[in-house]
Amino acid sequence: MTVRKIALTGIKSSGSPHIGNYLGAIKPALELTKDHEARYFIADHHALTTVRDKKLMKEQIYDLAATWLAAGLNPDEVIFYRQSDIPEVFELTWILSCLTPKGLLNRAHSYKDSVDKNAERGKDADEGINCGLYYYPILMAADILAFNTNVVPVGQDQKQHIEITRDIAQAFNLAYGDTLTIPEALIREEVKTIPGNDGRKMSKSYNNVIPLYAPRKTLQKSISQIVTDSKGVDEPKDPDNCNLFTIYSHFATPKEVEDKREKYLAGGLGYGDLKKELFELIDSIVTDGREQYDAYMANRERIDWILEEGAEKARSIAGPLLQKVRHAVGVQ
Ligand code: ADP
Ligand code: TRP
Repeated sequence: MTVRKIALTGIKSSGSPHIGNYLGAIKPALELTKDHEARYFIADHHALTTVRDKKLMKEQIYDLAATWLAAGLNPDEVIFYRQSDIPEVFELTWILSCLTPKGLLNRAHSYKDSVDKNAERGKDADEGINCGLYYYPILMAADILAFNTNVVPVGQDQKQHIEITRDIAQAFNLAYGDTLTIPEALIREEVKTIPGNDGRKMSKSYNNVIPLYAPRKTLQKSISQIVTDSKGVDEPKDPDNCNLFTIYSHFATPKEVEDKREKYLAGGLGYGDLKKELFELIDSIVTDGREQYDAYMANRERIDWILEEGAEKARSIAGPLLQKVRHAVGVQ
């Protein structure tokens, strides 16, 4: 019998999931469930680094859970849980922090970006930066290492976090002997960075997202906001430097993409028309999911119940691993 590899990923519940999350993380992760043991979770404590509204925090946890389930996650096949339900992860965070060089965290992108922004605005380096943001990579390493993870399906922006996780795990194994599994990032080249409607990476933090299961009207509005240049209908256009075209390519068939490419180059296809087509295309793809999403959001007890069951299964894996770690470091 072949042993199936373990796939694990999380998404932080800090805003409504968008098509970048779906194409870059959720869809590849669900495809992996065919031949991997899968552990997928809601990183609600990572969301705490930015979310300050208690009601919103609760709402976004349900929103993300309903999204995963509507996208096709089957809780009988995938261990699906909330990070905050797994105390072992937080214990491991501390133990790992004692092996993590501070310099490693100083180089982490999101911390560095915040420091750079402060410098641009003439502020002190660490002004407004909480320790949670600084510790973010260690909590993420614990999420991964507590579950003997082999592969972590993510978008490109998470690559550095997985490298940090590997560094920490290697430092642990070197100090205490082989205990932790060294994970690998799984980044799909073709969907590693989906652009947002302003052309930058699509991200909740940039406010440039196309939402996944929002009502039709909201979807239409955000697609209409995709920024293009001001070329008229008849003018030839450049498909390789147009984020509208790039987003369209992620949803259309290869034949449709080829057809639109020719029309772009020849002139005669307006941006407005392609936006309409893109809207209908995404809408038709998400219709079923949106219905399921609405049904889950209307039945939160069911979500609670699924996550509770998932937490129990997750703890039955993280518990023994933590026991090994405690022995390895000598606290037990
Ligand atoms: P956001 O940047 O909107 O806050 P998250 O950091 O919560 O998104 O990302 C959740 C998952 O979705 C991660 O695996 C991340 O790499 C992936 N992801 C986010 N945005 C994109 C994107 N624009 N293209 C591809 N993958 C993405
Ligand atoms: N940092 C990831 C994000 O921004 C979320 C995350 C937390 C994660 N822990 C993880 C992803 C472990 C993969 C594995 O969305």
